[in-house]
Amino acid sequence: MLKIENLTVQVHGKIILQNISLHIAPGETHVLFGPNGTGKSTLLGTIMGFERYKVLEGKIYFKGQDITNLTCDQRAKLGIGMMIQRPPTIRGLSLRKMVEVCGAKLDEVEQLAGQLGMTNFLDRSVNDGFSGGELKRAELLQLMAQKPEMLLLDEPESGVDVENIALVGKAANAIIGKQSHGALIITHLGHILQYVPATHAHILYQGKITCQQEAPLEVLRCIEKSGYSACVAGQCVIDKCASCGNKLCGR
Ligand SMILES: Nc1ncnc2c1ncn2[C@@H]1O[C@H](COP(=O)(O)OP(=O)(O)OP(=O)(O)O)[C@@H](O)[C@H]1O
Ligand SMILES: [Mg+2]
Repeated sequence: MLKIENLTVQVHGKIILQNISLHIAPGETHVLFGPNGTGKSTLLGTIMGFERYKVLEGKIYFKGQDITNLTCDQRAKLGIGMMIQRPPTIRGLSLRKMVEVCGAKLDEVEQLAGQLGMTNFLDRSVNDGFSGGELKRAELLQLMAQKPEMLLLDEPESGVDVENIALVGKAANAIIGKQSHGALIITHLGHILQYVPATHAHILYQGKITCQQEAPLEVLRCIEKSGYSACVAGQCVIDKCASCGNKLCGR
């Protein structure tokens, strides 16, 4: 579904990602962990095609098509959608209009907003004065309207209160829901993983992808216990489920 090959990315003259490769098959949900400032948001923004990220080398393929040189809106139309870590305010454009632009039919807007407790926000400008948790729900609302096949979530639970994490997690899971979909999620604390069953984990460390394993929750526990560097040094090779102690059971 998504194939990144040997990607090197520069931001304002500085190389942030070097020789990154990542494959996400249909039905897979991948989690990206990593310290602040290592380039996780840069990777998602580059997949989405934000102009400030300059691809120096490498290719990005979506469903077999080379999208490396496509614009952001072309990628969105092909079926890639992203929740941005710090989305901008767009004064003068109502959230209702934005959700319609993202693909919701007129009668669908209220129904989707209701699911996320965002009905009272529809006639406000996009993100204008929204709290941290409201921003995340507004982003998800737009994604629910867009129905992307490849979902990119940049810290979906950051700033979201304990009760709303369930709402956000379930909404994200509903978008990913189908076997043919793929997802790449950035999380620090992993709360979202209670609601979105992830299949693969990676750590982005010093610009490179490392510690790739098929046990996201166990990788997270290992990071919490021993730190990123231990995982990168190969001390988090996981072959047992942390919950039941058996050979990896996929949880
Ligand atoms: N305009 C810029 N000029 C210089 N450096 C930049 C610019 N934009 C981003 N960077 C740097 O790129 C690096 C990667 O940033 P990025 O936002 O991708 O990190 P991240 O892994 O998502 O971090 P976090 O966990 O804090 O969200 C950071 O060191 C950041 O300061
Ligand atoms: Mg980030």
